Amino acid sequence: MDSALAKSTPIEFTPDQLPAHIGVIMDGNGRWAEERGKHRTEGHRAGVDALRRLIACAIEFDIKYLTIFSFSSENWRRPPDEVNTILGLMKKFVASDIGTFVKNNVRVRILGSRDGLNSSVLKMIKDAEDRTQHCTGLRLNVAFNYGSRTELLDAAKAIAARVANGDLDLNDIDENMFTQSLYTADLPDPDVIFRTSGEQRLSNFLLWQAAYSEFIFSEEYWPDFDRASFLSLLDSYAGRKRRFGSVG
Ligand code: FPP
Repeated sequence: MDSALAKSTPIEFTPDQLPAHIGVIMDGNGRWAEERGKHRTEGHRAGVDALRRLIACAIEFDIKYLTIFSFSSENWRRPPDEVNTILGLMKKFVASDIGTFVKNNVRVRILGSRDGLNSSVLKMIKDAEDRTQHCTGLRLNVAFNYGSRTELLDAAKAIAARVANGDLDLNDIDENMFTQSLYTADLPDPDVIFRTSGEQRLSNFLLWQAAYSEFIFSEEYWPDFDRASFLSLLDSYAGRKRRFGSVG
Protein backbone atom coordinates (compact mmCIF):
# COMPACT_ATOMS: atom_id res chain seq x y z
CA MET A 1 0.00 0.00 0.00
CA ASP A 2 1.38 3.45 -0.72
CA SER A 3 1.87 5.59 2.33
CA ALA A 4 -0.40 8.45 1.16
CA LEU A 5 -3.26 5.97 0.97
CA ALA A 6 -2.45 4.59 4.40
CA LYS A 7 -2.45 8.10 5.83
CA SER A 8 -5.91 8.97 4.54
CA THR A 9 -7.68 5.64 4.79
CA PRO A 10 -8.91 4.35 8.14
CA ILE A 11 -7.92 0.70 8.34
CA GLU A 12 -9.54 -1.83 10.60
CA PHE A 13 -7.67 -4.97 11.60
CA THR A 14 -9.21 -7.87 13.43
CA PRO A 15 -7.07 -8.98 16.40
CA ASP A 16 -6.03 -12.18 14.61
CA GLN A 17 -4.66 -10.13 11.69
CA LEU A 18 -2.28 -8.24 13.96
CA PRO A 19 1.17 -9.56 14.85
CA ALA A 20 1.68 -10.19 18.58
CA HIS A 21 5.41 -9.65 18.28
CA ILE A 22 7.16 -7.31 15.84
CA GLY A 23 10.94 -7.24 15.43
CA VAL A 24 12.36 -4.08 13.87
CA ILE A 25 15.76 -3.42 12.29
CA MET A 26 15.95 0.38 12.24
CA ASP A 27 18.26 0.82 9.26
CA GLY A 28 19.27 3.81 7.15
CA ASN A 29 20.00 6.54 9.71
CA GLY A 30 23.43 7.21 8.22
CA ARG A 31 22.25 7.38 4.60
CA TRP A 32 19.28 9.58 5.58
CA ALA A 33 21.73 12.09 7.06
CA GLU A 34 24.34 11.87 4.29
CA GLU A 35 21.71 12.48 1.60
CA ARG A 36 20.81 15.69 3.40
CA GLY A 37 24.43 16.80 3.70
CA LYS A 38 24.36 16.21 7.44
CA HIS A 39 26.65 14.27 9.74
CA ARG A 40 25.63 10.62 10.22
CA THR A 41 24.97 11.27 13.89
CA GLU A 42 22.08 13.59 12.86
CA GLY A 43 20.49 10.51 11.31
CA HIS A 44 20.65 8.68 14.63
CA ARG A 45 19.08 11.69 16.37
CA ALA A 46 16.22 11.67 13.86
CA GLY A 47 16.07 7.88 14.33
CA VAL A 48 15.17 8.34 17.99
CA ASP A 49 12.10 10.40 17.00
CA ALA A 50 11.10 7.65 14.56
CA LEU A 51 11.49 5.14 17.38
CA ARG A 52 9.10 7.21 19.51
CA ARG A 53 6.58 7.11 16.64
CA LEU A 54 6.98 3.32 16.41
CA ILE A 55 6.38 2.84 20.13
CA ALA A 56 3.30 5.11 20.02
CA CYS A 57 1.90 3.03 17.12
CA ALA A 58 2.59 -0.24 18.93
CA ILE A 59 0.68 1.07 21.96
CA GLU A 60 -2.18 2.37 19.79
CA PHE A 61 -2.64 -0.99 18.07
CA ASP A 62 -2.18 -2.98 21.26
CA ILE A 63 0.86 -4.88 19.97
CA LYS A 64 2.09 -7.12 22.79
CA TYR A 65 5.83 -7.34 22.03
CA LEU A 66 8.13 -5.02 20.15
CA THR A 67 11.80 -5.94 19.78
CA ILE A 68 14.10 -3.30 18.29
CA PHE A 69 17.68 -3.74 17.13
CA SER A 70 19.34 -0.68 18.65
CA PHE A 71 23.02 -1.65 18.71
CA SER A 72 24.65 -4.85 17.55
CA SER A 73 27.75 -6.46 19.01
CA GLU A 74 29.38 -5.61 15.64
CA ASN A 75 28.43 -1.89 15.86
CA TRP A 76 31.42 -1.27 18.21
CA ARG A 77 33.52 -1.34 14.99
CA ARG A 78 32.07 2.04 13.95
CA PRO A 79 34.08 5.26 14.46
CA PRO A 80 34.24 6.10 18.19
CA ASP A 81 32.34 9.39 17.82
CA GLU A 82 29.42 7.57 16.18
CA VAL A 83 29.43 4.85 18.86
CA ASN A 84 29.48 7.53 21.56
CA THR A 85 26.64 9.42 19.92
CA ILE A 86 24.44 6.31 19.76
CA LEU A 87 25.20 5.43 23.40
CA GLY A 88 24.55 9.03 24.44
CA LEU A 89 21.24 9.07 22.58
CA MET A 90 20.19 5.83 24.24
CA LYS A 91 21.00 7.18 27.70
CA LYS A 92 19.15 10.42 26.97
CA PHE A 93 16.22 8.48 25.53
CA VAL A 94 15.92 6.28 28.63
CA ALA A 95 16.24 9.29 30.95
CA SER A 96 13.68 11.41 29.11
CA ASP A 97 11.14 8.76 28.12
CA ILE A 98 11.06 6.38 31.06
CA GLY A 99 8.24 8.36 32.69
CA THR A 100 6.20 8.07 29.48
CA PHE A 101 6.83 4.32 29.44
CA VAL A 102 5.59 3.94 33.00
CA LYS A 103 2.54 6.11 32.22
CA ASN A 104 1.76 3.95 29.18
CA ASN A 105 2.41 0.68 31.04
CA VAL A 106 5.40 -0.23 28.81
CA ARG A 107 7.84 -2.76 30.22
CA VAL A 108 11.42 -2.44 28.99
CA ARG A 109 13.91 -5.28 28.76
CA ILE A 110 17.40 -5.15 27.31
CA LEU A 111 18.50 -8.17 25.29
CA GLY A 112 22.19 -8.79 24.71
CA SER A 113 25.50 -9.51 26.34
CA ARG A 114 26.34 -7.40 29.40
CA ASP A 115 30.01 -8.47 29.32
CA GLY A 116 32.41 -5.56 29.06
CA LEU A 117 29.75 -2.81 29.31
CA ASN A 118 30.82 0.19 31.37
CA SER A 119 29.11 1.11 34.61
CA SER A 120 27.08 4.02 33.21
CA VAL A 121 25.62 1.81 30.46
CA LEU A 122 24.86 -0.94 32.99
CA LYS A 123 23.12 1.65 35.16
CA MET A 124 21.00 2.81 32.22
CA ILE A 125 19.94 -0.80 31.56
CA LYS A 126 19.14 -1.43 35.22
CA ASP A 127 17.15 1.82 35.57
CA ALA A 128 15.08 1.09 32.47
CA GLU A 129 14.30 -2.46 33.55
CA ASP A 130 13.74 -1.74 37.25
CA ARG A 131 11.48 1.28 36.79
CA THR A 132 9.19 -0.53 34.35
CA GLN A 133 9.22 -4.03 35.81
CA HIS A 134 5.67 -3.71 37.17
CA CYS A 135 4.25 -2.64 33.79
CA THR A 136 1.91 -5.10 32.09
CA GLY A 137 1.28 -3.50 28.69
CA LEU A 138 3.59 -3.40 25.67
CA ARG A 139 6.83 -5.33 26.19
CA LEU A 140 9.57 -3.24 24.61
CA ASN A 141 12.72 -5.30 24.12
CA VAL A 142 15.82 -3.39 23.16
CA ALA A 143 18.51 -5.53 21.53
CA PHE A 144 21.67 -3.80 22.68
CA ASN A 145 25.20 -5.21 22.37
CA TYR A 146 23.25 -8.01 20.78
CA GLY A 147 24.47 -10.64 18.34
CA SER A 148 22.44 -13.72 17.65
CA ARG A 149 25.40 -16.04 17.03
CA THR A 150 26.87 -15.10 20.42
CA GLU A 151 23.43 -15.63 21.98
CA LEU A 152 23.26 -19.12 20.42
CA LEU A 153 26.81 -19.98 21.51
CA ASP A 154 26.12 -18.75 25.07
CA ALA A 155 23.01 -20.94 25.22
CA ALA A 156 24.90 -23.96 23.84
CA LYS A 157 27.72 -23.47 26.38
CA ALA A 158 25.29 -23.11 29.31
CA ILE A 159 23.49 -26.30 28.28
CA ALA A 160 26.77 -28.18 27.69
CA ALA A 161 27.97 -27.16 31.17
CA ARG A 162 24.78 -28.58 32.72
CA VAL A 163 25.27 -31.86 30.84
CA ALA A 164 28.93 -32.01 31.88
CA ASN A 165 27.92 -31.42 35.55
CA GLY A 166 25.40 -34.21 35.34
CA ASP A 167 22.49 -31.76 35.95
CA LEU A 168 20.96 -32.42 32.57
CA ASP A 169 20.51 -35.50 30.43
CA LEU A 170 21.49 -35.17 26.77
CA ASN A 171 18.10 -36.58 25.75
CA ASP A 172 16.28 -33.79 27.61
CA ILE A 173 17.67 -31.11 25.31
CA ASP A 174 14.82 -30.03 23.09
CA GLU A 175 13.70 -26.92 21.20
CA ASN A 176 11.74 -25.56 24.13
CA MET A 177 14.60 -25.77 26.63
CA PHE A 178 17.02 -24.30 24.07
CA THR A 179 14.60 -21.42 23.46
CA GLN A 180 14.45 -20.80 27.21
CA SER A 181 18.26 -20.55 27.32
CA LEU A 182 18.35 -17.55 24.97
CA TYR A 183 18.31 -13.83 25.93
CA THR A 184 14.70 -13.87 24.69
CA ALA A 185 13.53 -16.55 27.16
CA ASP A 186 9.81 -16.07 27.95
CA LEU A 187 9.19 -14.06 24.78
CA PRO A 188 7.21 -15.58 21.91
CA ASP A 189 8.94 -15.76 18.53
CA PRO A 190 8.51 -12.63 16.40
CA ASP A 191 5.59 -12.93 13.98
CA VAL A 192 7.23 -10.46 11.67
CA ILE A 193 10.65 -8.92 11.18
CA PHE A 194 10.56 -5.47 9.60
CA ARG A 195 13.60 -3.72 8.15
CA THR A 196 13.83 -0.28 6.60
CA SER A 197 16.25 1.23 4.05
CA GLY A 198 15.90 -1.34 1.27
CA GLU A 199 18.40 -3.82 2.78
CA GLN A 200 17.05 -7.35 2.91
CA ARG A 201 19.03 -9.30 5.47
CA LEU A 202 18.85 -10.31 9.13
CA SER A 203 22.30 -9.02 10.18
CA ASN A 204 22.66 -11.44 13.09
CA PHE A 205 19.25 -10.52 14.61
CA LEU A 206 17.06 -13.23 16.21
CA LEU A 207 18.40 -16.06 14.00
CA TRP A 208 16.78 -18.85 16.01
CA GLN A 209 13.62 -16.93 16.89
CA ALA A 210 12.87 -15.86 13.29
CA ALA A 211 12.56 -19.44 11.97
CA TYR A 212 8.89 -18.87 11.01
CA SER A 213 8.71 -15.08 11.01
CA GLU A 214 7.33 -13.17 8.08
CA PHE A 215 9.79 -10.69 6.57
CA ILE A 216 8.70 -7.23 5.50
CA PHE A 217 11.12 -4.76 3.97
CA SER A 218 10.53 -1.12 3.17
CA GLU A 219 12.58 1.26 1.04
CA GLU A 220 12.32 4.26 3.37
CA TYR A 221 15.13 5.18 5.72
CA TRP A 222 14.45 4.67 9.40
CA PRO A 223 14.16 8.42 10.30
CA ASP A 224 11.24 8.67 7.82
CA PHE A 225 9.26 5.93 9.58
CA ASP A 226 5.85 7.19 10.68
CA ARG A 227 2.30 6.04 11.38
CA ALA A 228 1.62 5.52 7.67
CA SER A 229 4.66 3.22 7.52
CA PHE A 230 3.28 1.29 10.48
CA LEU A 231 -0.13 0.91 8.87
CA SER A 232 1.54 -0.30 5.70
CA LEU A 233 3.49 -2.86 7.73
CA LEU A 234 0.30 -4.10 9.42
CA ASP A 235 -1.48 -4.23 6.10
CA SER A 236 1.29 -6.33 4.51
CA TYR A 237 1.33 -8.67 7.50
CA ALA A 238 -2.47 -9.10 7.43
CA GLY A 239 -2.13 -10.34 3.84
CA ARG A 240 0.38 -13.08 4.67
CA LYS A 241 -0.65 -16.74 4.94
CA ARG A 242 1.35 -18.43 7.67
CA ARG A 243 1.63 -22.19 7.42
CA PHE A 244 4.48 -23.12 9.81
CA GLY A 245 5.52 -25.97 7.52
CA SER A 246 1.98 -27.29 7.20
CA VAL A 247 -0.42 -26.92 4.25
CA GLY A 248 -2.53 -24.12 5.72
C1 FPP B 1 21.17 1.71 11.57
O1 FPP B 1 21.43 2.79 10.68
C2 FPP B 1 20.96 2.19 12.91
C3 FPP B 1 21.78 1.92 14.00
C4 FPP B 1 23.00 1.11 13.92
C5 FPP B 1 21.49 2.47 15.32
C6 FPP B 1 20.04 2.64 15.64
C7 FPP B 1 19.97 3.68 16.66
C8 FPP B 1 18.95 4.54 16.87
C9 FPP B 1 17.63 4.54 16.18
C10 FPP B 1 19.10 5.61 17.88
C11 FPP B 1 19.47 5.19 19.27
C12 FPP B 1 18.72 4.04 19.82
C13 FPP B 1 17.84 4.06 20.84
C14 FPP B 1 17.25 2.79 21.37
C15 FPP B 1 17.44 5.33 21.49
P1 FPP B 1 22.85 2.90 9.99
O2 FPP B 1 23.70 3.82 10.80
O3 FPP B 1 23.43 1.53 9.80
O4 FPP B 1 22.48 3.55 8.63
P2 FPP B 1 23.21 3.33 7.24
O5 FPP B 1 23.03 1.87 6.90
O6 FPP B 1 22.46 4.24 6.33
O7 FPP B 1 24.64 3.71 7.42
